[in-house]
Amino acid sequence: MYFKQMLDERCGCASYLVASRQSREAAIIDPAVDTQQYQALLAERNFRLRYVIDTHVHADHVSGARALRDKFGAALCLHQSVQATYPFRPLSDGEELELGQLRLRVLHTPGHRAELISILIVNPPRSPEPSMVLTGDSLLVGDVGRPDFGGGDPAAQYESLTRLLRLPDWVAVFPGHFEGPCGKGMCGRPSTTIGFERLYNPLARQERGQFVSTLTDGVPARPLNMTAIEATNRGLADMPWAMLTTSPQVPEVDIEALERRPPDALLIDVREPGEYAHGHVPGAINLPQADLASRLNEVPRDRPVLLLCERGVRSYRAAQFLMQMGAERVVSVRGGTAAWRAAGKPLALGDTRIEKSLVTESAWTHAGGSCS
Ligand SMILES: [Fe+2]
Repeated sequence: MYFKQMLDERCGCASYLVASRQSREAAIIDPAVDTQQYQALLAERNFRLRYVIDTHVHADHVSGARALRDKFGAALCLHQSVQATYPFRPLSDGEELELGQLRLRVLHTPGHRAELISILIVNPPRSPEPSMVLTGDSLLVGDVGRPDFGGGDPAAQYESLTRLLRLPDWVAVFPGHFEGPCGKGMCGRPSTTIGFERLYNPLARQERGQFVSTLTDGVPARPLNMTAIEATNRGLADMPWAMLTTSPQVPEVDIEALERRPPDALLIDVREPGEYAHGHVPGAINLPQADLASRLNEVPRDRPVLLLCERGVRSYRAAQFLMQMGAERVVSVRGGTAAWRAAGKPLALGDTRIEKSLVTESAWTHAGGSCS
């Protein structure tokens, strides 16, 4: 057997190459959009790519699965419930994929998203029991995948976690993320074991009600450009440029400059609709960071643009993305709406029928770029 974990520092994602050294067949799980690294490894090791598997439709990074399928003629595999515009091999719970002497056993572990699967790796000549499990964004190291990315369900996540933690202690856990917006309390280690998580994952000993409220309180905002990235991964759009891949220096202004902004400046609040509705700087329009790439035509190029969020983290990333797209007159408001509020300045209300978002500002609520 051959196994390699590949970590993408930009988005906190992990992808995997598993192969049989007997048959030279390989599978790649959750590939990043940059497929060169896998191509090089396949060539170097003389492996033949048989399967490309996405554990779920990713909302925070563009998948390289279809590019690998096209390049190598591999079977592209997703859970049978995925709605995509392109053909794929549908997988169901309990199914096994043969990879030489190895068996890749599918476990349906919904919660982060309804279609999420984990992959148990069994090497029968060594043991009838699995030795490792690739958990996508179901079980993370010290955490579980957040359930609010569309179609997710915290109660289902509870069931999936319970199911995974019934695996033997020794099973090594390799998650789809070691950092990033898909969880909110990841440890940062790139792997763990079932036994360790059963004992020390803070969510593992919570009963269902407490688990659900832990998962739904204080979540990070939806990732930068999530709408465009998810649509691209479903085949509904072709926007791989929606990933933030650069780290330009963004000019920042304080709330005094915000108050004195030129009359033709456009003020964009990139927070979630529920945050905006319950108090925003007067004159700001709402364009959530999750929708920025898909609504890029609403951002003018011929006027100054000020970006604003709760504390200045999301607006900085959003401004970096606009600069990556060639915008020149973009600034981020340091301290954000919180600084405006703290200075006792007036706030406007929007449609307060929209439920208030319980969002926590986080450096990781984005789809790439480096953390400051
Ligand atoms: Fe995810």
